[in-house]
Amino acid sequence: MPKALDPSVAEFPDNSTFSQSDWAALANMWYPLALEEEVGEKPIAKQVLDVPIVIARLGEEYVVAKDLCVHRGAPLTEGWVNGSCIVCPYHGYEYDSQGSCKKVPSDPDWKIPSRIRLETYLYEVKYGLIWICLSGEPKNCLPNWEPEADNPDFLRFVMGPEVWNCSSGRAIENFIDNAHFSFVHRNTFGQESSASQGTEYAFSENDHQMTMAFDYMAHNPSDSPISDTTQLQRHMHRTLFLPFCTRTSISYPGGREHIIHINITPISSKRSQLIVVFTRNFDKDVPVADLLAWEQKILGEDRAMIEKQKPEEIPLAVSREVHAKADKASIAFRRWLKKKGLGRSFTA
Ligand code: FES
Ligand SMILES: [Fe+2]
Repeated sequence: MPKALDPSVAEFPDNSTFSQSDWAALANMWYPLALEEEVGEKPIAKQVLDVPIVIARLGEEYVVAKDLCVHRGAPLTEGWVNGSCIVCPYHGYEYDSQGSCKKVPSDPDWKIPSRIRLETYLYEVKYGLIWICLSGEPKNCLPNWEPEADNPDFLRFVMGPEVWNCSSGRAIENFIDNAHFSFVHRNTFGQESSASQGTEYAFSENDHQMTMAFDYMAHNPSDSPISDTTQLQRHMHRTLFLPFCTRTSISYPGGREHIIHINITPISSKRSQLIVVFTRNFDKDVPVADLLAWEQKILGEDRAMIEKQKPEEIPLAVSREVHAKADKASIAFRRWLKKKGLGRSFTA
C-alpha cells in the first residue's frame, strides 16, 4: 500500500473545537478519510479534527497533506495535478506525494531546500477507503471486514460520504445501541413489541474492539426491498473497531447475510463524516437505488435523533446520564475513551 514515508507530527490547530489533550489523544487514531473513488483528477478537500486536508491522486500514489502551501499559506485544494506533483494555485510551487517541493517556477535554477515541504500525513488504503492518522503513530487498528470484503457473491453499495451535525461519539454510540430500534425505527424495521430484544447481549472487549451478538425480531413494511418482508428474525453480530467504526453482520433465515460497515470521522467536535458500506448476498436483482433508498431512510431516522442530542458530546462521567442493561456497550465505550485520555470536551 502506498504510504507517506515521512509522516510529520501534526500540530494542534489554532481554531480547534477540541481541548488540546482530547485533540492529542484523538490524533493518534486511524480515521476513514475518503472513498478512493472520490479522488479523481482534481485535489479534494477534507477536514479531520479541525485540520483542513488536501488529497490528490498522483499517478499510483496519493498525497495526503495539510491544505496549506508552506510558501504563503494558499489552499492546495484550489490547485491542480501536474504528473506526479500537486501544483499550488498561487505561485505554482509543485510538491510530490511525499510533500517535497520539486519546482519553484519563479526561480527554476534554485536548489530547493528540503525543508520546503508540505505537512503530509500517514495514510493507508484498505477496502476502497483512504485512512488517515494525523499523528503518524496510530494507537488503534484499521477495521477488519473479512471474510466478505472481496467475496464476489456479495453485492456492495455505499452511502456517503455525508456530513452529520453531531459528534462522532454520539453517532457511534447510536450504532452500538439496540434499544433504539423499536422507537427511532418504528416506521421502518422496528416494532415496539420487540423493545426488550437485543438489550441483553453477549459482549466482549479488548483494547482495540468490542463485540456483541443478539437477536431482534424486525417488522419490515411491505414496500421494503428485503425479500420475505414483514416479520423477520435478525441475528446480529457487531464489532466496534474503536473508536468510530462498526461492522454489523445481520443474518436472516436462509443464509442471507447483510453487512453494514459504518465509518465515522470527527470533522470537528460537533460535525462528523459518515461513509457507510453495505454488502449483501441476497436481493441482488433489486436495483441498487432501491436498496440504497431503504438504507438511507433508516439512517435518516438515526440522523434526525442524533443531531438533536444534548450535550452534543458524550459525557464521560458515568453519573452525568443514566444507564440501563441495554447500555453495556456504551458504558464500556465511554470507559475506553477515558482510558485513552479523553476528558474535557467529551464531558461538554
Ligand atoms: S502560496 Fe503556494 S506557491 Fe506561493
Ligand atoms: Fe438506528
